[in-house]
Amino acid sequence: MSGNEVDNEKVICDRVKTAYKAGQTKEEVRDIYNGLADIYDTYSQPDQYQGPVQTAIECCEVIPEANREGALVLDVAAGTGLLGKELQLRGFRNLHALEPSTKMLEKANTRNIYKKFINEFISEEALVQVAADTYDIVASCGGMGQGHIPAGAVWEMLRITRKGGFIILAMREEYLRHPQYDGILEVLMENMEETGKWKTIKKRIIAKWFMKMDGVVFVFEKA
Ligand SMILES: C[S@@+](CC[C@H](N)C(=O)[O-])C[C@H]1O[C@@H](n2cnc3c(N)ncnc32)[C@H](O)[C@@H]1O
Repeated sequence: MSGNEVDNEKVICDRVKTAYKAGQTKEEVRDIYNGLADIYDTYSQPDQYQGPVQTAIECCEVIPEANREGALVLDVAAGTGLLGKELQLRGFRNLHALEPSTKMLEKANTRNIYKKFINEFISEEALVQVAADTYDIVASCGGMGQGHIPAGAVWEMLRITRKGGFIILAMREEYLRHPQYDGILEVLMENMEETGKWKTIKKRIIAKWFMKMDGVVFVFEKA
């Protein structure tokens, strides 16, 4: 590794750590990613970051190969489009990207894989550009974390997923115990199940999701 590469790796690790710190506004988080966009992919290759590959595998589990080309998928917190790239490799062609950082979105655009871009944050509030019951899959890889997607945004993910469609959330496992989600996110997920909003298909731990840190992926089917 050259001196420059070492410096860049440190920059990305430090800034990603900063991005997931408590107490930051969503605009501050967005600006951190605007500053990372140029070097993000270099340090997010599958040998270091398994998230996009593992999330794409889960999308394939719920949509048979014959139906993938037409399946409408929203990549929430799409970043530079790493999940979109893995989905395209596996036969998905009808992809939309939602991402608040313009610079990350510009990088995703250069891949020529998304048909629509939504330059927004997702939250508990309805996205004005997205009608209810739109998507076959709403997937987010690495979008959950402190200062990132709030727990209550699962309501909005549910709203925009079609009946019988899927919500797939993949994240660092330890974030489940951070104050923003601890005793909140999984309680909300269980409540969705108990009140018949969705059916839990899977909760799977992913060893070494990012470097040595484990991840977790949840798969739900909208009732
Ligand atoms: C670690 S990156 C993950 C990007 C990509 N999905 C990947 O796996 O490489 C986290 C992304 O979440 C986005 N983000 C943060 N808060 C968000 C929110 N409330 N809604 C949607 N995206 C958000 C950031 O702008 C950033 O691009």
